[in-house]
Amino acid sequence: MKQLISRILKNELIAPNFYRMRIESPYLAKNSKPGQFIEVRCSENIEPLLRRPLGVHRITENGIEMLYEVVGKGTRLLSRKAKGDTVDIIGPLGNGFGLPTIRYPLNIILIAGGVGVAPLLALAECLTSKKNIYVMIGARSKSHVLCESDFKKLGAKVSVSTEDGSKGKKGLVTDMLKNLLADNKSSSAAVYACGPAGMLKAVASIAKAAQISCQVSLEERMACGVGVCLGCPVKTKDEGYKMVCKDGPVFNAEEIVW
Ligand SMILES: Cc1cc2nc3c(=O)[nH]c(=O)nc-3n(C[C@H](O)[C@H](O)[C@H](O)COP(=O)(O)OP(=O)(O)OC[C@H]3O[C@@H](n4cnc5c(N)ncnc54)[C@H](O)[C@@H]3O)c2cc1C
Ligand code: FES
Repeated sequence: MKQLISRILKNELIAPNFYRMRIESPYLAKNSKPGQFIEVRCSENIEPLLRRPLGVHRITENGIEMLYEVVGKGTRLLSRKAKGDTVDIIGPLGNGFGLPTIRYPLNIILIAGGVGVAPLLALAECLTSKKNIYVMIGARSKSHVLCESDFKKLGAKVSVSTEDGSKGKKGLVTDMLKNLLADNKSSSAAVYACGPAGMLKAVASIAKAAQISCQVSLEERMACGVGVCLGCPVKTKDEGYKMVCKDGPVFNAEEIVW
C-alpha cells in the first residue's frame, strides 16, 4: 500500500450520475486485486477532510479504473476532475476476493446491486475461464443498469432486473439468484456479491440454503481505511468485530452476523 499522486487518463460520465475514472499507476496495476479498494482525496482543500473509499473496478495495463456514483460532496468534486488532472490516493487497501479454487466446471455467480457492480467487473476480467460466469445486475431502473455490455463482451451470461421493470425482469436481483440455483441444482457454484446491505443479507441466506460458498463485499462509512480508527466494525460470528477496511471489505458470508 502506498500514497500516490496519479494522473487521470479519463473521467467520463457513463450513465446519469455515474462516472468511470481511469488513472495511471503502474504500481496499482501490478499490486491491485479485484475486491480491493483505494482511498481517494477528493479535493485539494480541507473540505471534505476524509478520503473516500472506491473499489477497484478494472485493472488495466498501466493503472486502474474506478466506477462511482455521485452521492455527495466528495464524489461530486471527483466528478469535476478532468483528463490530465492528478488525484491523491492511498491503495490498494483491503483483502480482495478469494478466487475459486475448485476446478471448472464451476458456475461463478456474480450478483450486483446498483454501483456494487464496480468490483465485480474486475473479478470477472481476472477469472481465467470466462465460460461459466453468470452475472446478475439489479438496479432501481434502466438508467442505473451499469456494465451490462462489459460483462457480455467477456462471454458472461448476463441477466438484469430492475425494481420498476424498465429493463429486464421486474423485481429483485435476489429472485433471479433463487431461480438460477433452482434450475442448476446439480452444479457446483460460488457466489460473489456486492451491493446494499439488505441485498447482501438476502444473498447470504439463499447461498446458505443452497449450500454454496458466498463472498460478500461490504460497505461501511470509512475514515482511515487502514484499521486504525476502528470506525468500520462489522459483527462476526467469532464473537467479535472485524474492521471492514482492514479485514475486508470481502468476507465469507457465513462469517457475518447479519
Ligand atoms: C470498501 C468500499 C468500496 C466502495 N466502492 C465504491 C465504488 O466502487 N463506487 C461507488 O460509487 N461507491 C463506492 N463506495 C461508497 C463510497 O465510498 C461513498 O459513496 C462515498 O464515500 C460518498 O462520499 P461523498 O462525499 O460523495 O458523499 P457523503 O456526503 O459522504 O455521503 C452522501 C450519502 O452517501 C452515503 N454514504 C457515504 N459513504 C457511504 C458508504 N461507505 N457506504 C454507504 N453509503 C455511504 C451517506 O450516508 C449519505 O447518505 C465504497 C465504499 C466502501 C466502504
Ligand atoms: S476506517 Fe478506520 S478502522 Fe476502518
